[in-house]
Amino acid sequence: MDIKYNLKPASERRTEQFTPEGNVGFGKLRTDHMFLMDYRDGQWCDPRIVPYGPFEMAPGAMSLHYGQSIFEGAKAFMHDDGEIYTFRLNKNAERMNNSANIVCIPNIDEAMQLKAINALIDVERLWFPMQEGACLYIRPFIFATEDRLSVSPSQQYTFCVMLSPSGAYYAAGVNDGIRLLITTKFHRAVSGGTGASKAAGNYAASLRAGKAAAEYGAAQVLYLDATNQQIEEVGAMNHFHILKDGTVIIPKFTDTILKSITSQSIMDMSEMLGCQVRQETVMLDKFIADIESGEIIEAGGFGTAAVVSPVTSYIFEDNRILTVGDGKVGKHIKKIYQVFTDMQKGKIAGPDGWVKRV
Ligand code: PLP
Ligand code: COI
Repeated sequence: MDIKYNLKPASERRTEQFTPEGNVGFGKLRTDHMFLMDYRDGQWCDPRIVPYGPFEMAPGAMSLHYGQSIFEGAKAFMHDDGEIYTFRLNKNAERMNNSANIVCIPNIDEAMQLKAINALIDVERLWFPMQEGACLYIRPFIFATEDRLSVSPSQQYTFCVMLSPSGAYYAAGVNDGIRLLITTKFHRAVSGGTGASKAAGNYAASLRAGKAAAEYGAAQVLYLDATNQQIEEVGAMNHFHILKDGTVIIPKFTDTILKSITSQSIMDMSEMLGCQVRQETVMLDKFIADIESGEIIEAGGFGTAAVVSPVTSYIFEDNRILTVGDGKVGKHIKKIYQVFTDMQKGKIAGPDGWVKRV
């Protein structure tokens, strides 16, 4: 399908490369345009790039009532050659369809998703933020638009891609660790539910827990499984810990954990990182005992927005605090962060096909 272009007049568009003054932050800024495509009469149609702006949508649009809405998050980086490169976008396109299957949204051909995103970035090149560590954050999403109030899959949808010139999600980056609240009161997902998808409702369901975390002075919640025995993940990143021999352990992917592309990449990069990376079921009791005995020396989260975020302490609902190692950001995490981000920025070579020029 050919993409139609309805661009802003040149006089209203950015004319030189974006050189932000203060820190750009995460997800605050928008570019001039967005990509749109509709689903009607059983097929995706009308792919177009138009000025970024509000949608016209019926008050009865089904996404507003029953939550049929999914999204992805990916990043593009500028390399030293001045070109923009996406990172493993094909994995995002694949996962978008996986999320779509979980909430009964029609799939979009992966090649079409990649074409849409590349075409939009191509139009918005001048929006790439020239700032250390910054990127173009890519947010594709699909939402139900049919005006109907019975509960069944919508027959109409819109696929949109928007871009946000961004920095890291946690302002502290890899320099300062964050604290997580280990909660037994809130759960993110149950088996048979939507936990393995990027369904919007999963994030709505995490807000109450996020508020509780803030009351404990924690940045986010570390979710357990529904029986409060196993460690699952954090609201916007997978969890990991590192043993004293340097082995990185990520909880096994189940249908209650999002299959993080960052986690998968770290597993595939174990040789480059010079350490073992494996997945296993992580029991909370053992995790606590291993931190207390010094068997676990570092911990953190992996995610596109979060990158590699060190966790230096946990707090429980009885206010007990569990400090990881010496409470400082450890050397293994610093190395993982450096190698991973250098690879995304093209400073060192990664596996074939991971970074692709726009
Ligand atoms: N877990 C959840 C719930 C997320 O929202 C995200 C972010 O996308 C992740 C994990 C990390 O996944 P990825 O590395 O693919 O961004
Ligand atoms: C991402 O890491 O891209 C995400 O989608 C997480 C988001 C909830 C900030």
